[in-house]
This record gives sequence, structure tokens and C-alpha cells, in this order.
Amino acid sequence: MKEKILVTGGTGYIGSHTVVELQQAGYEVIIIDNLSNSNADVVDNIEKITGIRPTFIKLDCLDFDGLKAAFEAHKGIKAIIHFAASKAVGESVQKPLLYYRNNLVSLINLLELMPQYGVEGIVFSSSCTVYGQPDELPVTEQAPIKKAESPYGNTKQINEEIVRDTVASGAPINAILLRYFNPIGAHPTALLGELPNGVPQNLIPYLTQTAIGIREKLSVFGDDYNTPDGSCIRDFINVVDLAKAHVVAINRILEKKQEEQVEVFNIGTGRGLSVLELIHAFEASTGVKLNYQIVGRRAGDIEKVWANPDRANKVLGWKAETSIEDTLRSAWNWQLKLRERGIQ
Ligand code: WQD
Repeated sequence: MKEKILVTGGTGYIGSHTVVELQQAGYEVIIIDNLSNSNADVVDNIEKITGIRPTFIKLDCLDFDGLKAAFEAHKGIKAIIHFAASKAVGESVQKPLLYYRNNLVSLINLLELMPQYGVEGIVFSSSCTVYGQPDELPVTEQAPIKKAESPYGNTKQINEEIVRDTVASGAPINAILLRYFNPIGAHPTALLGELPNGVPQNLIPYLTQTAIGIREKLSVFGDDYNTPDGSCIRDFINVVDLAKAHVVAINRILEKKQEEQVEVFNIGTGRGLSVLELIHAFEASTGVKLNYQIVGRRAGDIEKVWANPDRANKVLGWKAETSIEDTLRSAWNWQLKLRERGIQ
């Protein structure tokens, strides 16, 4: 009997890649997604990759009664991976209440329902954003949580506290908080990838859309930072490697291997790469020349952040495996496939 896992936000970028890995690890997957930043054909593409069609429920996690009905209809869910959230740093500054309502109440609804339906564990999609600009690099899980630079980052910090306080209150819940760095790339089949609505906020989708001619040129937000080439540094992690970390975390919870009821892991490569280095790596990996210009800094940007992934490597038993070159090629192949399918 396959164990059932609920994936909220499962038609999204990281969620869809995680559904594939869960299915290939032998889990039965139920997706809940409101399709606010994705579309239902992702379910078809997941099925094309794994041969298994996940159950898909179009539902907003803010809808408590709807969530309750979903748990009623699908008894036996063992654990949840909670991706569903708004995640654009810049947008969160413009619409803080939307971010606080969506990102906090969705989690609260799930935590309230879990004990009623015997759901043992939750893997929560957190972010390196909680660290702000770390004092020391690479950053470890023991680094102090600094005042968030945006409402988005603040919702991640508050979410982590909500989980901790709920567990501390005696709720029969185990949790693993995964702090992502910068997820990039696409599935090797080029059937899944990052497809943001409208103008991409994140670097890689804007970069590949520029490379294919959808965008005229990529703006590099600042080259006057205190870094070797002046551009910001990030820890770019392959999305499939990131997805695999979620399967390892689910296994850890269900096999009761956790050392504490709430565990935190940095999910990064441990390698910092600057924006300009990434651009040059893209050109070298794909042979595609990129049209870009240096412009002013973007408000809210962290200067440099990359992970110390030792704890994830040694305790969780997970390690990023994919090279940056293969990852950038996968992003480019995805962009080419979108063009071939007439989507962009
Ligand atoms: C990366 C770098 C930009 C666009 C992301 C997600 C956030 C969270 C943390 C998971 C920065 C530069 C970007 C462009 C550029 N993820 N850039 N030109 O800001 O690190 O945050 O990771 O929880 O949801 O947004 O990612 O891709 O926006 O920016 O120069 O057109 O690329 O200044 O230095 P960021 P990003």
C-alpha cells in the first residue's frame, strides 16, 4: 500500500518537480493548488514523466472548509509538503496584507487539520531569506535570524515560529523546515520547469527569456557590491536536487528518524556564484550569447549569501549533485521546449 502524501502548491515550480520525485520513490501523491501561479497542464506533464497521474484538487489553502473536505475525501494522508505560498519579494512590499494572509493563514489551516486526520508530519518550504544578510558565510542553520528585508521574508520567519509553537504546544506533529537557497533549472525531460506568470522577477527565467528573444536584454541589478566582480552572490541549486531533498525529509519523518520534533536544514550547494559568473556560465554551457546591461541595485537585495550544507549532507543524508553547467543547460532546454510547444 503506497503511503499518501499531500503536496500543496504541487503544480508550481518546485512542487511539481517534488511530486515527480515522490511518485518515483513509491509514494501516492495528492496535489492541492489554486493555480494562481501555475496551470493544470502541469498534472499532465507529471503523468507523462512518471506514468502515474497524481490526484489534483483545485483549491486555495485559505479555504478551511475546502481543506477539511479534501482531508475527509482522502483519508490516510501520512504527511504534507507545504509549498503553496506567494513568493515574490518585490510584490510582497507592494501587497503585504495579501502575503501575510495567504502565507500565514494557509499554514495555520493545515496545522489545525493535521491532528484531526492523523497526519503525522509536515515538510515546510522555508527560505534562506530568513537569514537576511548573514554576518558569516557560508551560512549555517545556527546563524541568527535577522529582521526580514521584505514581508515575504517575514512570512517565512513567522511561519517557522508558528510551526515551532504548534509543536511545542503538544500537537502530535513532526516537522522539517527546509531553507532553500536559489532554485534554478528544469526537469531533464524539459516537461517541467519555471514558468512565471507575466514578467519574471527571478534571474534565470528572465535570463533564458532574454536568450531566446522574448526580452530585449537582461538587467544586472548592480555591480558595485563588495564582491569580487561587484555583482551579488547566490547559492544556485538545481531544482531536481532540491525536490529530492523533500523526499529524504518525508522518509525521515515517516521512518521516525528525527532527532527533534522540529528540524531545520539548509538546502544549498555550498557554492556561491555571482550574477555575472552565472551569466558567463550560461553562455559557456549553452553557446548562447546573452544581451545584458548593468543597472542600479534592486531594493531589498541581499549582497551575498550561500549555504553551509554540512548538516543536510551529514544528518539529513542529502547532497546537491548536479553541476551548474547541466543545470543551466536544463533551463535553456526548457525555454526551447516552451517555444516548440508554442507557449512562449
Ligand atoms: C537573484 C540575483 C538579483 C533578476 C529568490 C526568490 C525568493 C527566495 C529567495 C525561495 C539577485 C539578480 C535578478 C534580474 C538580476 N526563494 N537579478 N536581474 O532575490 O535571491 O530571491 O531566492 O524561497 O522567493 O526570489 O532571487 O532570482 O530574484 O535574484 O540582476 O532580472 O539576481 O539582484 O542578486 P533572490 P532572484
